[in-house]
Amino acid sequence: MASTLPLVPDTDPSTCVFDSFRTAIAKRVSEALPVTLEQAYSGVDYGKKGVDFTIALPRFKLPGKIDELAGKVLSKFEPDDWVASVTHDKAFLHFQLNSETLVRRVLDQVHARIHLTESKLPEYGTNTSGKGKKVIIEYSSPNIAKSFHVGHLRSTIIGAFLSNLYESCGWDVVRMNYLGDWGTQFGLIATGFEKYGSREELEKDAIKHLFDVYVKVNKEAEGDSNVKVEAAKWFKQMEDGEEAALTNWRVWRELSIKKYEEQYERLNVKFDVYNGESMVGKEWQDKALDRLNEMGLISDAEGAKIVDLAKWKLGSAVRYIYPHPRTDGTSIYLTRDIGGAIERYEKYNFDKMIYVVSSQQDLHLAQFFKVLELMDFPWAKNLLHVNYGLVQGMSTRKGTVVFLDQIIKEAAGVMYDQMKQNEEKFAAVEDPETVSREIGITGVKIQDMAAKRINNYTFNWDRMLSFEGDTGPYLQYAHVRLASIGRKNPELLPLPSPGQINTNSLAAMQHARDIAFLLGTYPDVIKVALKTHEASGIVTFAFRLSHAISSAWETVIVKGEEDLEKARARMFLYECARDVLAAAMRLLSIRPLERM
Ligand code: ARG
Repeated sequence: MASTLPLVPDTDPSTCVFDSFRTAIAKRVSEALPVTLEQAYSGVDYGKKGVDFTIALPRFKLPGKIDELAGKVLSKFEPDDWVASVTHDKAFLHFQLNSETLVRRVLDQVHARIHLTESKLPEYGTNTSGKGKKVIIEYSSPNIAKSFHVGHLRSTIIGAFLSNLYESCGWDVVRMNYLGDWGTQFGLIATGFEKYGSREELEKDAIKHLFDVYVKVNKEAEGDSNVKVEAAKWFKQMEDGEEAALTNWRVWRELSIKKYEEQYERLNVKFDVYNGESMVGKEWQDKALDRLNEMGLISDAEGAKIVDLAKWKLGSAVRYIYPHPRTDGTSIYLTRDIGGAIERYEKYNFDKMIYVVSSQQDLHLAQFFKVLELMDFPWAKNLLHVNYGLVQGMSTRKGTVVFLDQIIKEAAGVMYDQMKQNEEKFAAVEDPETVSREIGITGVKIQDMAAKRINNYTFNWDRMLSFEGDTGPYLQYAHVRLASIGRKNPELLPLPSPGQINTNSLAAMQHARDIAFLLGTYPDVIKVALKTHEASGIVTFAFRLSHAISSAWETVIVKGEEDLEKARARMFLYECARDVLAAAMRLLSIRPLERM
């Protein structure tokens, strides 16, 4: 047994093995140098390739020469169950962990914590830092009757990931879809529906039909201003809550949501609340206006009421117009967002609210966040805009993409054709339709989350659906390969309980140790993602793990290993690796496949 360690505040060895190792390193340093255990701990970083952990000595700002300080740590050093060695290189101290303890502790923790939590995510890697706190995450938010563009796809993918991430860190997450289900375009559709609408088509595919109607009536409106007048009248009636104007609209909304739900299910994405611009209460918008008036925040400019945000460079050219710029008094996107945020706070009492919206709307979000701040709402500082860059060039083989189901179908289709090229393999796949769709969707998601959110990228079916390189299909393949070990070695199953497995042989194999080390980093990888709101760290982790496994494949063999004790230990390692790879994929909202 490794010796017991002191407990450093804000660490939790029961959920993160590396907290123990960092503490062990910090303990030695704090005993050799005039720093506290906590100070030393905060200096322990991951090392570069081949080094487990590193401390940069200058960060402690201690008197004396760096070499002397390092010498003190080195001369006192004796290897123990936690730390095997320390070396000194310029300003750095490099530590290697005791391999046997490392492998043992990591695999035991993975094994003990791999079961699924209530939210269907594996527990290993998760933490409870958000316990008792509530976050609203608003994402996807397509506009009914308009096209679902890649911006909405990105919001859907990133938002689903963030929701899983917050849940994994103990937060109570409200997954919210804020539909663009209101605005003058609905007046236009109402006008057009009388001519072009069909109940039958609507039932079949509401999203597509409403879009068609919208396109037609929009065209008509271009040449005939009466249509616009008519549309404005309709929308005014809707805003005034006139039942006759709302009946149809309600059906459109409901049937669109139904259709969307099917597609979200395919994407492994879900929502707790279908909110929408239509649902922002007028009273909240009025209350907001009253408050702005009382606080003297409204001024007149060029005949409109505005909140001047020039001071914050949020509208020196385009000033913030509030609230009723249209002569007919209907609400606008901005006023609905202001009223909506207040309403949500009253209803949910959130600790944080995240809007996953394209960077094209940076100004819009900054403006309404600022207005809420000026209104002295203490919670305004807890609003966060998670933005992302543009995507170019998404089209299908048939042409432009307008709907989400086209994206899903194309991903599945391209993947299907590709798999079919390997006839022998293809014949062995039980349900090629589902499998190709899952892999296709994985490809789309991985391409989207592989780099920092703010980066633009070009949609490329061939690249994202290739089995070569760091792609979604490669990740699924890595998982399937791990999943097959059990099937190929049934005589080793079921594995005895971990206590019965001797893992020391693994510690002696570099490739096996590398895998164990990576598995140990996963709880930290999750913590970093929570800080940065980036999925790319999780994606990188998944690929590093897949590569480490693939490097181990030739040497750390299971089939053909005659020493049963060793074979079992390796199987245990691979099972743990597979579980953690699956955990990372699930966190990214990807369903890991068992066979393909
Ligand atoms: N429906 C909007 C659009 O497609 C996105 C909504 C973003 N969320 C918000 N609270 N404004 O552009």
